[in-house]
Amino acid sequence: MEKCTAVLLAAGEGTRMKSTKPKVLHEAAGIPMIGWPLAALREAGADKIIVVTGPGMQALRDAAGEGVLFAEQTERRGTGHAAMQAAPFLTGGGCAVILPGDMPLITADTVKKVIDTAEAGGYACVLLTASYDNPTGYGRIIRDAQGNVLRIVEEANATAEEKKIREANAFVYCVRVPLLLECLKKLSPKPPKNEYYLTDIVEILNEAGEKVGAVVTDAEECLGVNDRVQLAQASALLRRRIAGKHMENGVTLIDPQNTYIDAKSKIGQDTVIYPGVILEDSRIGEGAVLYQGSRISKSVIGAGCTVQNSVVLESEVGAGTTVGPYAYLRPGTQVGEGCRIGDFVEVKNSRIGAGTKVPHLSYVGDADLGEKINIGCGTVFVNYDGKRKFRSVVKSGAFIGCNTNLISPVEIGEGAYIAAGSTITKDVPPHSLAIARSRQIVRTDWKDKRDEE
Ligand code: UD1
Ligand code: CA
Repeated sequence: MEKCTAVLLAAGEGTRMKSTKPKVLHEAAGIPMIGWPLAALREAGADKIIVVTGPGMQALRDAAGEGVLFAEQTERRGTGHAAMQAAPFLTGGGCAVILPGDMPLITADTVKKVIDTAEAGGYACVLLTASYDNPTGYGRIIRDAQGNVLRIVEEANATAEEKKIREANAFVYCVRVPLLLECLKKLSPKPPKNEYYLTDIVEILNEAGEKVGAVVTDAEECLGVNDRVQLAQASALLRRRIAGKHMENGVTLIDPQNTYIDAKSKIGQDTVIYPGVILEDSRIGEGAVLYQGSRISKSVIGAGCTVQNSVVLESEVGAGTTVGPYAYLRPGTQVGEGCRIGDFVEVKNSRIGAGTKVPHLSYVGDADLGEKINIGCGTVFVNYDGKRKFRSVVKSGAFIGCNTNLISPVEIGEGAYIAAGSTITKDVPPHSLAIARSRQIVRTDWKDKRDEE
């Protein structure tokens, strides 16, 4: 492949999104929309990528990541005007491949096909088109009787007859660089909004006697996201693709349409995922079962774990551990292998050793727990005095009775027992029993005596 420079147009405000955030930063299947065409361009082998941004779009620059050049379009005067901003970077010939930032379903294969067609056929320009069931909003492709592409007419400028054309412009172009630069100079603003249309280069090239070709693909891949309805459609299609790949790799999805796995998550073979599960940038081991309604974000879940109706954030869970139902693992939590984190248990910034059980209704905050500990129902690690946070340590083999308060910082020695209902304020030595509650007093026949008074 000869030298190929990519231009990604992303300066538009995306007015139709009705958002304070630039359109291309809205997420589709877990990554900012712009990430999808960028990935396709990288995979297609673009030598250089220029992103045209609007003024003050620092967040967009951050999202685009390494190895990208930026051109700024200070005034939004249309797609042609946006492409002009990239002109100073278009040096050294070859071809330019132009994509919009709002086309998340475009694949590297299709981008490559457009580039290869241009090269193989000696075209000045090859564009990508698709036949849409409802082409409203897209530029329509006007062909002559022989099928040659003559020009693109925008929705706002189309006649009633032209609006009936279902073949529309997808917004992927491969153009010879010197010809593109000449065309951009010839663009003039078009009504109704006085914008420079990039689409006009097709007519300009034809008038100059240059060869223009088209690659036709399916409309699904060419969905342009202008509003939130299209964002939802594109996201659903991306998720379907992602789910399909996981199923091919041996993951069972009980109801793929109602499972929300983002682009960054990895899942081991023979894992089963029930509906309503949300996976964000997470790694799930082999043979795990994720039951309904769990959200797992930036976390690692080991092989053979089960997670049910739980929220797991920035945490690690060892193999064979069960989580939930209704557990909440907050950032900084590391749970070992073969543990049980049961119902209504919250764990924050804590380490829990292998085989330890926190079966129900407990709060474990800022604590280091050894192995094979039993934490009784209703135990609270009292880690906060209203000003500062403190850590506590529970050594392996300890048994914490139900409804215990551990006032941090406190250390419970190996194999120590805490009587139920204790409020522990001092360290407990290994192998001892600590009881920290008032003794029970029984006054016999108390009721009868009172009634006599
Ligand atoms: C555009 C095409 C239309 C095509 C459709 C495909 C034009 C005139 N129309 O229409 O033929 O069918 O895409 O989805 O090209 N942008 C800028 N600066 C601007 C304006 C836009 O950088 O001043 C960027 C946007 O960020 C976006 C892309 O260009 O990524 C397309 O702009 P948009 O306004 O969405 O164009 P459409 O109306 O969808
Ligand atoms: Ca668009």
